[in-house]
Amino acid sequence: MLSRKLQDALNEQINREFFSEYFYLSMSAYLESVELEGFANYFNVQAQEEHFHAMKMFNFVHDKGGRVLLKALKEPRADFKSVIKLIEEALDHERYITKSINELMDIAIKENDHSVKSFLEWYVDEQVEEEATMSKLIAKLKLINGEGLGLLTLDNELLTRTFTPEA
Ligand SMILES: [Fe+2]
Ligand SMILES: [Fe+2]
Repeated sequence: MLSRKLQDALNEQINREFFSEYFYLSMSAYLESVELEGFANYFNVQAQEEHFHAMKMFNFVHDKGGRVLLKALKEPRADFKSVIKLIEEALDHERYITKSINELMDIAIKENDHSVKSFLEWYVDEQVEEEATMSKLIAKLKLINGEGLGLLTLDNELLTRTFTPEA
C-alpha cells in the first residue's frame, strides 16, 4: 500500500511527466514551423520518452494498490525565440523535473518505503541523462552559433533519433 502522501506526490509527478510530453510536443511543432525537421524529430522522440515515464509511474501506482488521478495539463508555450533558447528552456524544465523527483524521493525516504525508493532510483538516474543530453545539444549549438550550414548538418543528424522502449 501507498501512504496518502506518497500517492498524492506520485500523482503530481505523473502530471508533470505528461506535461513534459505536451511541452516537448509543442517544441516539436514550433521546430516543424521553422523547417528544422531533425530538431522536430528529436523533440517528438523526447515527448514519447516522457509519455513512457508517465505510464511507468501510472502502472506502478496501480501495482502498489494505489489510485491514479489525472489532473489538467497546462497549455504549453508555443513560441520560442530561437532553437538555442528553446533547448535552454528544455534544460531548465529538466532541472525542475530533477528537483521534483528528488523531493518525491525525500518523501519515500522519510516514510521508509523501500519499494518506492527502489522504483524512483530509475528516475534519478534518467534525469542525469536528460540534463546531460540537453546540455550537450546547447554546447554543440553554441559551437556553430546556432545558424548556417552547421545548424543544417546538426538538424540532419537529429533526424535519425528514434524511440526505443525499454525491454
Ligand atoms: Fe521525464
Ligand atoms: Fe525528461
